[in-house]
Amino acid sequence: MNIILLGPPGAGKGTQSERLVAKYGMRQLSTGDILRAAVKNQTPVGLKAKAVMDSGGLVSDGIVSDLIDSELKNIDSGVGVIFDGYPRTEEQAKILDKLLEQHNRTLNLVIELEVDVDALVDRITGRFSCSSCGTLYHDTSNPPLESGICDKCGSKSFKRRPDDTEKTVRNRMAEYTAKTEPILPLYNSRGLVRKVDGMSPIDVVSAQIDALLD
Ligand code: AP5
Repeated sequence: MNIILLGPPGAGKGTQSERLVAKYGMRQLSTGDILRAAVKNQTPVGLKAKAVMDSGGLVSDGIVSDLIDSELKNIDSGVGVIFDGYPRTEEQAKILDKLLEQHNRTLNLVIELEVDVDALVDRITGRFSCSSCGTLYHDTSNPPLESGICDKCGSKSFKRRPDDTEKTVRNRMAEYTAKTEPILPLYNSRGLVRKVDGMSPIDVVSAQIDALLD
């Protein structure tokens, strides 16, 4: 299956993608993760994207779509893809249609994580991840089982994202409302959208998504 996970910053797209990868062997394509790696490695794309990401704005449609195209070229056609954080504009949605056709893939589902916007600032400012394997945690809602030690790989080193400040989060939310929400009618008209309550505990959200995929 090829699915899009759609929702504002902090809705749980990355958290649920991790679980889908572990359970179904799907491949997660997170434009946010790919861009952060480019920034870290100071590639030409990373150098262009850094300031935009730091402000909470959107990187250009062309740059992110080229990144998705390159990634799709390297994924076996039998492996399902989770699009996490892409598309984010009407133009990206149009480009994705073309890319899917070129790569002989069909879009099966668009899962919209519905969340209470007031809760998202807390989710994002409390987020951290393992520096070694990237597993996501939250200070209160999803801490490691043993404090200071990653559940998955045992690392004791964790990091926080530079764009996870309250000010930037509010900009990212405004971008979501202005540019990303308007793509939902397109997918609704194709009967692809399924809403999931993203305010439920993480395991309950996963169970709702599994029910859509099984
Ligand atoms: P990106 O990395 O995609 O950030 P985002 O969309 O803002 O989403 P987040 O990663 O912040 O949230 P999430 O929904 O994955 O939540 P998570 O699972 O981590 O993009 C970053 C930047 O890159 C953008 O601002 C833009 O500049 C650029 N960019 C990326 N893609 C682009 C594109 N296509 N076009 C243009 N620019 C692009 O969860 C958050 C926290 O909450 C975690 O701590 C988690 O443990 C906790 N949590 C999760 N689920 C629950 C739950 N159910 N209950 C309680 N806590 C929960």
